[in-house]
Parts: sequence; structure tokens; C-alpha cells
Amino acid sequence: MGPRNARLETLRPRLNGRSIVLIGLMGAGKTTVGRRLAKALDMPFKDADEEIERAANCTVSEIFEQFGEDYFRGGERRVLARLMSEAPSVIATGGGAYMNAETRGVIAARGVSVWLKADLPVLMKRVSRRGHRPLLKTANPEETMIRLMNERYPVYAQADITVDSRDGPHDSVVREIARALETLEVPPPAPLKDQTP
Ligand code: S3P
Repeated sequence: MGPRNARLETLRPRLNGRSIVLIGLMGAGKTTVGRRLAKALDMPFKDADEEIERAANCTVSEIFEQFGEDYFRGGERRVLARLMSEAPSVIATGGGAYMNAETRGVIAARGVSVWLKADLPVLMKRVSRRGHRPLLKTANPEETMIRLMNERYPVYAQADITVDSRDGPHDSVVREIARALETLEVPPPAPLKDQTP
């Protein structure tokens, strides 16, 4: 392991037993950056959408189609509560997860939130590579993305760390997160309260 990774590993104690929680819009790079960050910090990686799919035994698209968005959001809230109660890991959330106040609360209590902030062209370029996202199956996906940016960016801005997710190598985003962690004061996680079922 190279010296850069060695330095990243020394950052893990700075998390004080908290998880790193990546938030941001579809196409911001949460899953890709999360996997790399987890590897660099030698921590487990968890993808919230995958956990929801595993629990429901079907894909996110199928959940939206068969049960609707509200049902998906309920599952998403429960999965995030569970992930935040487990051992520290790097967690990639789905783009809407942080919009739920209860989820924001549990992330603030037990995680370090990192907003991967990307501009419209970068997001559109990335999401256009795959057409699996139910929220973007609209007549004008770019218009939908702009609406989501307007609704969500003021809320995402509450994250502990904001990092620009540019259209460059994901490793530079990982390094930027590491740099921000070097100076962040991280209190130990708050004890778990009873979660609503
Ligand atoms: C959503 C984002 C998706 C997925 C679902 C809803 C959203 O995850 O959770 O389609 O509300 O922004 P990604 O952000 O990983 O694409």
C-alpha cells in the first residue's frame, strides 16, 4: 500500500467511531467514491439502495412501480436507521434519503455527512449512461434534475463536509474528502434511541 493510502488509514481514528455518509443527487458519484473511500480507509462499504433492494427482494425501480415512492421512502428510512446503528462504515445513500428529517437526525447523531456536490452537466452526463432511475423517467429529465437541485441543495448544504464532485478522476474526490476530515472535529456518536418501526 502506497504512502498516500497509509496517510488515509491514519484518518480512521479521527472518525471517533462514526460512519461516513455520502449524500448528493443521482449521478454525484456516491457509490463509486464511497467504495474507493472505504477501501482507502479500510472500512466496510454499504450502499443503502442495495440494502433496500435486498430487504425487499426486488430492484428500486420495481419498488417504485409496484408500491410507489412513499413505500420506498419508508423502507429507505428504516434501512438508514439500521445502517447507522451498526459498526462504522462508509455508506452511500440514495439521493432522496437525506431529505427525510428523521434520517438527517440519525446521520447527524452517528455519522459524518459528506455532500458530493456536482453541477448539472456532470450529473446529466453521468445519469444518462444508465436509465434505471425511476425519478428521471420523465418527459424532460434535465428539467426534473434542475427541480431536484433547487429542492435539495439547501438541505444537502447541512452536511458536515461539502466536496465538489467534478467530472475528473474519482480518486481526487476521495483525497478531497480525506483533506476535509483532517481538520474536522468529530464528536463520538450519540447513543442510539429507540427507532420507530
Ligand atoms: C433517488 C435516488 C436513487 C434511488 C431512487 C431515488 C432520489 O439513488 O434511491 O431512485 O430520490 O434521488 P442514487 O442517488 O444512488 O441514484
